[in-house]
Amino acid sequence: MLSDTHLGLQDAREEPFAQYSKRMAGAYVKTRHAKSGGQTSPQESFIEGIAIAQKNKADLLALPGDLFSFPSEANVEWAAQKLQESGLTWLYTAGNHDWHYEGMEGTSQALRETWIQKRLLPLYQGSNPLISFRDINGLRIIAVDNSTYEILPDQLDEFRRLIRAGLPTLLFIHIPLYALGRPLGFGCGHPEWGAKSDKNFTIERRPKWREAGHTQTTMDFHREVLASSNLLAVFAGHTHSPSLDLLNGIPQVVSDDNASGGRLDIEVLPFS
Ligand SMILES: [Fe+2]
Repeated sequence: MLSDTHLGLQDAREEPFAQYSKRMAGAYVKTRHAKSGGQTSPQESFIEGIAIAQKNKADLLALPGDLFSFPSEANVEWAAQKLQESGLTWLYTAGNHDWHYEGMEGTSQALRETWIQKRLLPLYQGSNPLISFRDINGLRIIAVDNSTYEILPDQLDEFRRLIRAGLPTLLFIHIPLYALGRPLGFGCGHPEWGAKSDKNFTIERRPKWREAGHTQTTMDFHREVLASSNLLAVFAGHTHSPSLDLLNGIPQVVSDDNASGGRLDIEVLPFS
């Protein structure tokens, strides 16, 4: 799994969008590798991650969001080409930066829809961008887009259908689910999430989080995940800091960011 690569590639086609991508374009140009301490970059880290997945003959490469710092054509073309050339099976879902042009007019939900359709589509390979799955070796792997921090009714319905099939399941999301005592980075289903606690809307130049806090659907999704007895684990990114929580006994693992070389090697073993 590679999360939060934060590719920031741009070319002449991006010029009309520079006013919206300027801050994030400068955010992860050169990074320090979390393991080696040496200088690296999002591109190098992504290529390294793909090479490790190939070497390990990974059944799936999970990409749960913030692959990009903004949805430039150069970003999407580069990543889609690397993935296609890799021969790996991959499962991508968006993070809050993948579709976000800072300062662009529109709600998060509308901007997500627009930039998925205009730019990100090749990464989904025909799957539903908001919730998709793969069944591999008896294991169900579900990716749910919670990059607006919220879950839509259709996503909840489809999640229920997929999880209630009863297969052992892994869930990939971008924003970690709220876990007791965790800050707002664990913002999907967090009881304090909402306009009053939103500190970053100015710097990220976006509408404030919802006045009334999470929708009932988002809270129901959180409850549904925690009540899923066949869910083996939840994997997320977003915080750029590795962590492990137990959600009603289900492990939620947050990966270090791939921008600085982070990755998760996930091995699922049968009971014997
Ligand atoms: Fe990120």
